[in-house]
Amino acid sequence: MKDEIFKASFPTEIIQEGKVKVLVPKLRAFVTSPSEYAPSKAPVFYNPVMELNRDIAVLVLQAYQRTLDREISICEPLAGCGIRGVRFAVEVEAVKNVVINDINVKAFQLASYNVQINGLNDRVLVKNEDANLLLSSHGAPRKRFDAIDIDPFGSPAPYLDSAIRALRNGGLLCLTATDMAPLCGVHPKACIRKYAGKPLRTEYCHELAVRLLAACLVLTAAKYDIGVSIAFSHSANHYVRVYATIQHGAKKADENIKNMGYIFHCFKCFHREPAKGRFLTAGSEKCSECGSKINVAGPLWLGKICDEQFCELIEEEAKHRAFKRGQKIRRILTLIKDEVDAPLTYYVLDKLCDALALPVPPVREVVEALREKGFQAFLTHFNSRGIKSNVPATEIKELLREILG
Ligand SMILES: C[S@@+](CC[C@H](N)C(=O)[O-])C[C@H]1O[C@@H](n2cnc3c(N)ncnc32)[C@H](O)[C@@H]1O
Ligand SMILES: [Zn+2]
Repeated sequence: MKDEIFKASFPTEIIQEGKVKVLVPKLRAFVTSPSEYAPSKAPVFYNPVMELNRDIAVLVLQAYQRTLDREISICEPLAGCGIRGVRFAVEVEAVKNVVINDINVKAFQLASYNVQINGLNDRVLVKNEDANLLLSSHGAPRKRFDAIDIDPFGSPAPYLDSAIRALRNGGLLCLTATDMAPLCGVHPKACIRKYAGKPLRTEYCHELAVRLLAACLVLTAAKYDIGVSIAFSHSANHYVRVYATIQHGAKKADENIKNMGYIFHCFKCFHREPAKGRFLTAGSEKCSECGSKINVAGPLWLGKICDEQFCELIEEEAKHRAFKRGQKIRRILTLIKDEVDAPLTYYVLDKLCDALALPVPPVREVVEALREKGFQAFLTHFNSRGIKSNVPATEIKELLREILG
């Protein structure tokens, strides 16, 4: 592909994202109605909506590089048009090399062209292999990467084993999951198949999605006597993202297992209750508050889903970037940092007020009222009407009646 004039066999256009210009499929040309999902109709995958996901990935990789204070190598084994890998090479300081790969030959050609027009031929290698084959060929100690970004169609679960083996001790794994219907409990069987955990269709299903993905990662790594530290995670409407470093050693893997568990949930009265343990032992099948049938999600990760110090490093990086959605990103980062020590799950005011036939009050008013009563209360990036709190369901309902009554 070097120095050749590239002629795509499909409509394309040059776009700018972050600091790079890349050639992408002209999405308008591939849809016949506005409701069609254009990225998957094009011969090569490109989704402009994921810009924020890529922006945050740039920040996280830079923050991670700063913790190592040396040059890093990155692999993006499911690259589509190559925009993410090209951005990493250009926008993250001290990147020694990037390997970008896609099984689709047209994606490989387009990504190669994008590497070329950004003058990256000496630092970015483009491959056209199966992702697991590529990662497995980097499993030997000297061939491993410092960071791997798995951004697939749907679930990253099929790539976890090979990615963990292709990461250096201390390496950073970045995972996107877009299969929200399974993870949020619309298709529970698919979730059990992919993540070996049971989802629940609750109002806090996005947090459960992060915890199911984190659990799957923890258990996959544990097989290789590798421990995992969740450095950062975030959720948006159609995906969740988890960033984790790995540490070789059975001890760390054993410690991880202690943070596995379940969340019991009552759909009748909103009561929820975590229970630690790798295996579910027979317990009550009834809600301890109202006696209705209790439902369970898990096994899932009950430990922290963000490291406060690492979040501060990401925030610091965000100050120096001029992203289109910079303000939104900074708002998300602040919310995530503020909720690191918040209780598991969250209440969603609309849901509670709907059940109580009350109008929905401003979320900040309820947070204040909870704090005045001595409860912990945090806003959450998972939902703009969500509140993370240690208040029991019966008491938050009482408080809403007081406020609105
Ligand atoms: C969601 S897209 C990647 C988007 C890209 N990471 C970005 O930020 O724009 C997933 C890509 O994975 C590729 N793919 C699917 N199965 C693969 C496999 N087994 N090995 C390598 N690539 C694969 C698809 O061709 C597609 O381009
Ligand atoms: Zn109940």
